[in-house]
Amino acid sequence: MGARVIVITSGKGGVGKTTSTANIAVALAKAGKRVVAVDTDIGLRNLDMVMGLESRVVYNFIDVIEKNCKLTQALVRDKRVENLYLLPAAQTRTKDAVSPAQMAELCSQLRPDFDFVLLDCPAGIEGGFKNAAAGADEALVVTTPEVPAVRDADRIIGMLESMGKSPIRLVINRFRAIMVQNNEMLSQEDILDVLSIKLIGIVPEDDSVIKAANRGEPLTFAQESPAAQAYANIAARILGENVPLLQWDSYRSKGLFSSLKKMFGF
Ligand SMILES: Nc1ncnc2c1ncn2[C@@H]1O[C@H](COP(=O)(O)OP(=O)(O)O)[C@@H](O)[C@H]1O
Ligand SMILES: [Mg+2]
Repeated sequence: MGARVIVITSGKGGVGKTTSTANIAVALAKAGKRVVAVDTDIGLRNLDMVMGLESRVVYNFIDVIEKNCKLTQALVRDKRVENLYLLPAAQTRTKDAVSPAQMAELCSQLRPDFDFVLLDCPAGIEGGFKNAAAGADEALVVTTPEVPAVRDADRIIGMLESMGKSPIRLVINRFRAIMVQNNEMLSQEDILDVLSIKLIGIVPEDDSVIKAANRGEPLTFAQESPAAQAYANIAARILGENVPLLQWDSYRSKGLFSSLKKMFGF
């Protein structure tokens, strides 16, 4: 038994992987689960900042792999909620400092002590992604409603499928219903028509995300914002609860969808 290990990935950078990891981690911990969020973005770590734990980072997961410290020494405990930990990334190393086998071994070490291990993945489809994905059972693919992000998500989904990850579920982030209505943004139907995976949640564009990142306090600590609610719902669905999707307008953005169809060849 032990933890479910979930990689949070995207293909395209800057779509909200780190934001999603931090907020889902907090929401799962608030639901009483033992959670560790692992920053696998070596060299560009920022999960520690989004979680507001950067001043308490001493060791990182490469120190654990290289046996410079014990796993328990590298884990940073979040004092705001029970059973939430961060395992930071090294800032001064490159992505080839670890192998997929070492990452998988690290995940096995974490499994007995946690209910969830969330792996915040670097952008791209190269070594950093393969390392992070190696130890995972399941995947969450994050995309924004933009054609390039959806195309990169499609490539990542293909790779995750060939690696045998299951389930692979989709988070649509930075959604703006008004723009969809005005035919300026892909709708959830557009995206789901081309990506053959299940949707686990839609997170709206929300200024509180940026304010929270600057404060170093994941949104899900304070429930009232729309994005915080969306992340709490995603966490509940990960736990198997049947939470209905928020009712976004299902208007199809015809012009944008036809360009997406062309790109995917149907
Ligand atoms: N739902 C959202 N609404 C507003 N801003 C967001 C949202 N999600 C992410 N952002 C912002 O987008 C930027 C990139 O997010 P981040 O989580 O760091 O992406 P990634 O880890 O995929 O590179 C950050 O500045 C973040 O605050
Ligand atoms: Mg990131």
